Amino acid sequence: MPIHIPVLPNEVIEGLAIQPGDTIVDGTFGGGGHTRLILEHVGQEGNVIAADRDPAAIEIAQQDERFANVVLVNHNYADIPEILTSMGIEQVDGILLDLGLSSDQLADRERGFSYQSDGDLDLRFDPTKGEPAYRLIQRLSEKHIADLIYEFGEERYSRRIAAQIVKQRHVQELRTASQIAQLVRSTVPRSKHHAIDPATRTFQALRIAVNEELKWLSVALRRLPEHLKPGGRFVVISFHSLEDRLVKSAFRENEKLKQITKKPIRPTEIEISQNPRSRSSRLRIAEKI
Ligand SMILES: C[S@@+](CC[C@H](N)C(=O)[O-])C[C@H]1O[C@@H](n2cnc3c(N)ncnc32)[C@H](O)[C@@H]1O
Repeated sequence: MPIHIPVLPNEVIEGLAIQPGDTIVDGTFGGGGHTRLILEHVGQEGNVIAADRDPAAIEIAQQDERFANVVLVNHNYADIPEILTSMGIEQVDGILLDLGLSSDQLADRERGFSYQSDGDLDLRFDPTKGEPAYRLIQRLSEKHIADLIYEFGEERYSRRIAAQIVKQRHVQELRTASQIAQLVRSTVPRSKHHAIDPATRTFQALRIAVNEELKWLSVALRRLPEHLKPGGRFVVISFHSLEDRLVKSAFRENEKLKQITKKPIRPTEIEISQNPRSRSSRLRIAEKI
């Protein structure tokens, strides 16, 4: 049973402005938390199509009776136009993207998302495609690693971390998540003001790199609004400023979209205390004109 708790649940449902009978796409199924809420609101006459890049998330959902009426696809959300075309659907009433990783992925020790994990530092949403993060740091030049950690992690000690990675990879094979987390912790001074683990930014950067997350988000932000009906809603939840910046400018620059949220919606203190993962979430809503 998935352990992921959906963030901003009421805000997502209000943002999508769902009517019974609507067709809604959840582009990031994860543990299906948002999909379940959407199902309740579209009712018997409605349709829900859900995608996730992670084959494990879709396989689990396929065995779960609660999702029997959902069209589940193991795809990148950037491919939603092709998925809809294959179903003979041109436009839908709402699209949701809840970015980043799920608590279920974080808890899977084999995949290296958690700093404590002794599994390989893989970090791929779809482990059947592309290159795991440990290979990336074995292969790339020191400058490339530093640039990547700086750009995708907004980490000011990126050069120091990259230098340490390159030094250590000559001494031993850098492979597990806990090894890399320990290397970063011993390189970066712990901030007095922030309680976050010093490895957080580096892990975020490597995850964004191996999954090409910003590239796919940009593609989706450009392609998906075409597939909304007039009045249809596009709701995106991001978890860091790199994502939010892309969403904000895509909503502002698309003349077929009207921004419903001028400022992003943030979780309440109550939600943060009940679901700490929601802490950094920001939700933006746009409506198709
Ligand atoms: C935050 S979780 C979604 C949780 C879900 N809303 C819920 O309530 O259970 C994000 C999910 O998006 C998936 N994902 C990330 N990038 C993706 C992409 N480009 N296409 C499809 N799925 C993606 C991840 O595999 C992960 O399962």
